[in-house]
Amino acid sequence: MNEKIDKIKQHAQDLRAEIELHNYRYYVLDNPTIPDAEYDKQLRELQRIEQDYPQLIRADSPTQRVGAAPLKAFSQILHRKPMLSLSNAFEEVELEAFNRRVCEGLLVDSVEFAVEPKFDGLAVSLCYEGGIFKTGATRGDGYIGEDITLNLKTIKSIPLSLPVDNPPPLLEVRGEVLMLKADFLNLNQRQVAKGEKEFANPRNAAAGSLRQLDSGITATRCLTFFAYGVGEYQDSHMPLDKHSHVMTYLASLHFPVAKESSVVKGLQGLLAYFQAIELQRERLPYDIDGVVYKVNSLTQQKQLGFVSRAPRFALAHKFPAQEAVTQLLGIDVQVGRTGALTPVARLKPVFVGGVTVTNATLHNADEIERKDVHIGDAVIVRRAGDVIPEIVSVVLEKRPADARVFSMPEHCPVCGAKAVRLADEAVSRCTGGLFCPAQRKQAILHFASRRAMDIEGLGDKLVNQMVDQAIVRTPADLYKLGLGALANLERMAKKSAGNILRAIEKSKHTTLARFIYALGIRNVGETTAKDLAAHLGSLDRLIEADSVRLQQIPDIGPVVAQSIADFFAEAHNCEVIEQLRACGVHWNEHEGISVLVGEPKPLYGKTFVLTGTLPTLSREEAKEKIEALGGKVSSSVSKKTNYVVVGADPGSKYDKALSLGISVLDEIGLMELLQ
Ligand code: IVH
Repeated sequence: MNEKIDKIKQHAQDLRAEIELHNYRYYVLDNPTIPDAEYDKQLRELQRIEQDYPQLIRADSPTQRVGAAPLKAFSQILHRKPMLSLSNAFEEVELEAFNRRVCEGLLVDSVEFAVEPKFDGLAVSLCYEGGIFKTGATRGDGYIGEDITLNLKTIKSIPLSLPVDNPPPLLEVRGEVLMLKADFLNLNQRQVAKGEKEFANPRNAAAGSLRQLDSGITATRCLTFFAYGVGEYQDSHMPLDKHSHVMTYLASLHFPVAKESSVVKGLQGLLAYFQAIELQRERLPYDIDGVVYKVNSLTQQKQLGFVSRAPRFALAHKFPAQEAVTQLLGIDVQVGRTGALTPVARLKPVFVGGVTVTNATLHNADEIERKDVHIGDAVIVRRAGDVIPEIVSVVLEKRPADARVFSMPEHCPVCGAKAVRLADEAVSRCTGGLFCPAQRKQAILHFASRRAMDIEGLGDKLVNQMVDQAIVRTPADLYKLGLGALANLERMAKKSAGNILRAIEKSKHTTLARFIYALGIRNVGETTAKDLAAHLGSLDRLIEADSVRLQQIPDIGPVVAQSIADFFAEAHNCEVIEQLRACGVHWNEHEGISVLVGEPKPLYGKTFVLTGTLPTLSREEAKEKIEALGGKVSSSVSKKTNYVVVGADPGSKYDKALSLGISVLDEIGLMELLQ
């Protein structure tokens, strides 16, 4: 009996290997060697065996690519190594500057670069343990992503197991998920046939398909994957010399890599590659938005290191923004948090660079005058990457006879208060202050935003209703909300109302820096709020500080100091703060740092790296605490790192810290240092 099972087990294993090989030939090499019917037959045979002998089912079986039961939510995955972003360049001069910086940094005249297409898809990280695909995640914030393993398993060009006898214990492969142009056209045809919405472009289609809680839907969507690097690994076969060799190695493990990649020398090589790819762009089977240059030598990459969240050794050279001509139907005026009135162009819908654009920013009245924009004009609209589209210019020859001049309203279009324009400002502002519903809504949204009080789930639809129905007038009113009032709002079931109330309650415990930022004082962004909190240590000291005292704080000049003084001079603002405190909003206060000009903060010049999960502090909180005292938090360990803070399940940064002899702290050690 055992012998029979062993035989079947072996047969199933052979079938799996064979089917995966056909997947590779079909989806990666684009060179199938058997007819589809033969492939289907093998897959069905494997399915039958696994049905009869469920004990033989394995997570890496090709039968598992059809999707699984829908999830309620994605869980989170901590990347073993952060997923960084790339610095961008559009112009040749920026490219020259990059090449110069690299050469100067390495003390060489010319550098070898690995050059690749810049895929216009979604970054993912695939983790293989013992050669088996275990987990896959989105990029998220670069440190923590969403677990989309089940969805990624449905992508046939992603190997479920590595085709080697001695697989590496650990290998994290980084790359991009995208939808081929042909598959995108196919999908849209199917959507139309089903009477469903078409996708605007392959990138949106890929994003919509990948972020499905139901992996069964993802499985119907024909996504594909291209590898462009590795994250963490324990792999004795990993090439240690050049990026291009790493890519060849990944290809040998059956990962799809771009055929268009190459290796070039110096600035001339970069430019020639850019031009060559630009010519091929239309003919490529997938969308790209530029090319990526990477210093090829891994030793040189290490030497160059990183600036904030991007490597110094790499650059994304983007294609120029895309433009189209359309008609300006009208100009709406939006009111921002500080009352600024912004004219927004309402456009006849036009397809630019893969999306339909209906609005574009016009910045302010001067800009409209400078560009001589009239309502009814034919205008050139430009879209670059993900930024808000803008109007470049007017096509004067096409100006219709009835085109109208636009003038900024003299009153706020929302509350009717007078709008004024200060002599030295480009914008007009509504003088309604927090009595203007538009400003009030924006102020509340800012107060609740992630980097401020972080009230999850409090979005614009909800805030609009709360303000329109006068349930909430100020941020303090949020803390007085009851279940009844909330549950009465549109699209608010009891459960979601409960969730919001819990999120509001949770936000009561905050930090001084977040609270100051949340107040929405003009010219006080997150960094200034952190500086104020670190130097003054208490809200009362901030309220009492006069302009002279404030300007003793590094980086605080007369304009910011005046904005702060103006804010606290307003009785209404102080009342709201009192109410917030009375409702239980609290934070830890401290003595503050001596504010003598130029005196450095205690951790000034010290660099920290965080790795693993700390017992009580989140990464964000630990970072805030370190930065408040002048320290810097970096993502990679180098000789310049002063401390590595280690939590549970640390990554390789911990090993690196030990090997470089860098001080290692746990959370308690960190807290002691911060004291
Ligand atoms: S390398 C440390 N190579 O561009 C650098 N990224 O802004 C890691 N991307 O989110 C990225 N094609 O998803 C690299 N050939 C390529 C790429 C590429 C597209 C995306 C990537 C990332 C973004 C970086």
